[in-house]
Amino acid sequence: MSQRIVTLISEEDIAARVKELGRQITEEYRGRNLVLVCVLKGSFVFTSDLARAIDLPMRIEFLGVRSYGEGTTTSGVVQITQDLSRPIEGEDILIVEDIIDTGLTIAHLLDLFRTRRPNSIKVCALLHKPSRTRIQVPIDYLGFTIKDAFVVGYGLDWAEKYRNLPSISLVESD
Ligand code: IMP
Repeated sequence: MSQRIVTLISEEDIAARVKELGRQITEEYRGRNLVLVCVLKGSFVFTSDLARAIDLPMRIEFLGVRSYGEGTTTSGVVQITQDLSRPIEGEDILIVEDIIDTGLTIAHLLDLFRTRRPNSIKVCALLHKPSRTRIQVPIDYLGFTIKDAFVVGYGLDWAEKYRNLPSISLVESD
């Protein structure tokens, strides 16, 4: 069985959209205590581009999560493998996610962070698959809405492969 990588969203289209999101976040967070929370591993590429598109002082934190699931679906049981390095009380938290699929992971993270009493908490996701939603969460900043397909690249993996592809792509087997 051979696999083909088919581009769904090009490097250029991602770059243009990330710049727009950065401009919007810059306007809305001026004068506030912005903390970007990069959800590892999938968001590492998106966070590094988004951070450089935001023209404000900020902190960047990394959160390690592992969600147990079978194959390409999540169970919603989220384990924190690496916590934030500092308290977030009184700060303006922007969680940066690669993709919101069922919504279970981000719902869990919102519940967790709310207990730490930040001043505000919002979500920025590069991708959303609305057809797979199991729990509705507000997505304050969104890159692209996509169909129900498993995607890789720009940080996203399939069994730890393809994270370094510069575009968002589909893996097709034949
Ligand atoms: P959710 O809890 O179902 O919303 O899933 C969130 C996590 O599942 C994401 O942060 C990704 O790590 C992973 N995931 C969901 N869909 C995809 C996909 O199409 N490609 C790669 N990873 C995915």
